[in-house]
Amino acid sequence: MPAKKTFYITTPIYYPSDKLHIGHSYTTIAADAMARFKRLTGHEVWFLTGTDEHGQKIQRSAEAAGKSPQLFVDEIVAWIKELWSVLDISYDDFIRTSEKRHREAVQKIFNKLYEQGDIYRGRYEGWYCTPCEAFWTARQAEEGNCPDCGRPVELVAEEGYFFRMSKYADRLLQHMEANPDFIQPVSRKNEMINNFLRPGLEDLCVSRTTFNWGIPVPFAPGHVIYVWLDALSNYITALGYGRDETLLKKFWPADIQLIGKEIVRFHTIYWPIFLMALGLPLPRQVFGHGWLILKEGKMSKSRGNVVDPMVLVERYGSDSVRYFLLREIPFGADGVFSNEAMLQRFNTDLANDLGNLLSRTVTMLERYFGGIIPSPGPEAHPSDRDLRELALETPERMVELMDKLQFSGALEALWTLVKRSNKYIDENTPWTLAKEEGKRQRLGTVLYNLCESLRFISVLISPYMPRTPRRIWSQLGIGDMPELQSWESLSHWGLFRAGLRACRTEDLFPRLNIEEELSSLLGEEEEQKKKEQAPASAGREQKNTAPGEGKLQELQKEEISLDDFARLDIRVGEIIAVELVPGTDKLLKMVVSLGTEQRQVVAGLAKHYTPAELRGKKALFLANLKPAKLRGLLSEGMILAATDASGKVVITTVDGDVAAGSRIS
Ligand code: ME8
Repeated sequence: MPAKKTFYITTPIYYPSDKLHIGHSYTTIAADAMARFKRLTGHEVWFLTGTDEHGQKIQRSAEAAGKSPQLFVDEIVAWIKELWSVLDISYDDFIRTSEKRHREAVQKIFNKLYEQGDIYRGRYEGWYCTPCEAFWTARQAEEGNCPDCGRPVELVAEEGYFFRMSKYADRLLQHMEANPDFIQPVSRKNEMINNFLRPGLEDLCVSRTTFNWGIPVPFAPGHVIYVWLDALSNYITALGYGRDETLLKKFWPADIQLIGKEIVRFHTIYWPIFLMALGLPLPRQVFGHGWLILKEGKMSKSRGNVVDPMVLVERYGSDSVRYFLLREIPFGADGVFSNEAMLQRFNTDLANDLGNLLSRTVTMLERYFGGIIPSPGPEAHPSDRDLRELALETPERMVELMDKLQFSGALEALWTLVKRSNKYIDENTPWTLAKEEGKRQRLGTVLYNLCESLRFISVLISPYMPRTPRRIWSQLGIGDMPELQSWESLSHWGLFRAGLRACRTEDLFPRLNIEEELSSLLGEEEEQKKKEQAPASAGREQKNTAPGEGKLQELQKEEISLDDFARLDIRVGEIIAVELVPGTDKLLKMVVSLGTEQRQVVAGLAKHYTPAELRGKKALFLANLKPAKLRGLLSEGMILAATDASGKVVITTVDGDVAAGSRIS
């Protein structure tokens, strides 16, 4: 048997400075789906993820939490591993940069680069962005802010070791030009060439002396290795670089290194140059995908946008969350995450399309054949051929799309088969066939073909939704038949065996009541927020400033102009009547006077105020927020509130005798 083709895929190693959010989950789920797809299609896969544990940022977060850096990261890493477990992330290795295997290998790398003259001693004076752990020149950090994240940079002046970046710049440029797939999407490649390579690379400072949470420079006490040199090396230290290099020989160079677009520079300039200096080949492809952002760019409690992946998985299951993230946004582009869009997709794609296909098929098998799969007769209708041909074409179509990392396109191709199968039912109307004795064989053929199509769908869906196939197979009675569940089995139509017994046990994806879900998610988010702000989690009180909160927070804080502000209609409203929304313990319904008119406003305040406490109060309301329905009730505005140190939500009341309806300016 020929050796399997190998496939090595990596995610960034995440900073354990705080809990990870849906954005980090997005990269890891995409990498997992790719790893599973490659395994399914016969590759020998190595899938690496891990955590980037050193550096000034982590040291500061640990100090703020009153913990040693090691203890601090240990706790968060345990949480991250739990998250990956509930999201069914099938990594082959999880590297932590505080591990001995990594530390020792990075020291070897540093020694080698120093000994061969690529690293030299000097003095660094310039700017540093701690959240990004990035050095900037005065020109780059114009006006004292980091060009990447916009946060203030700090002036740094210290002894250091420098890497001769410029020595390798031409070679890198040639490599990029000769290998158009090296950086994807292509727009990111152009940005790297035009903004960084062509203007000329400065030597990079690769050590720090002002803190000690890092890997010591082996020959220079007081110096720790720059965290990006440390972190990027993980992709080879995890494969045994400088130790037992069996895995390195087998899997390096990586086939795909998945990252978010904000760290493309580190992965396509620093990283390849370090590799060149080490005499190792460059990764075949670095893919910088876009960001998941929130509706209107910000996370809003009143809109019920919960982005803690744990909460979503607990409520909807990991397969549904994975499906949504991979299906909704074309990989590469930025995309908006919203609970509404997610719930809608659950209902249309999962409950209506896939769930119904299985339940209709199994219900009819039970009703007309006592659950026993009938033998098919000959193809007798053009729809038989259409369905068969589409099923047989779909695997290859998905391979092509997955090779371009088009997760969304691959799922769309699969859903074409799901939808075609539902249409096949409507075209062949088995319920009519069942009424005519002479059509029994035809009825059997139709149901047999549906089982076969569901078999194709269940195998093809496995990389994206690893739990769903078993649930389909068990209802179709093929749970213990690996020969019907393999990629190879998709080259043949008609492998399903007559005589097997199908059995309807559960709805795959019950339909959700979107309004109810949105309002429950709103409640969950409040609970979550309270937990986050509880004094016991002292470390997390840094959250709003600590970078670990992630990019989702940053997106809230972009500057706006006065014109933008003028678009907000914020007014003083007088709360005239208040009552608890029946059937909830969180929502209050208020009648609010805005001077010339009265509005109904629904807000998640019941845990914080009694109706009597609110009645008669004047507070600030956003009056031109698009009306939304919560629990079926129209909410025509939003009360502005803040959360105090104990987690209580406090409304923004106004002092003095300001008339209801007065505008804020
Ligand atoms: O940068 N949308 O770690 P990090 C999509 N330790 N993806 C997102 C995202 C969002 N809103 N927010 C984060 C680091 N990500 C370094 C990496 S690698 C040698 C060192 C994902 O914890 C995306 O993959 O800040 C991004 O690149 C990564 O998380 C950043 O994670």
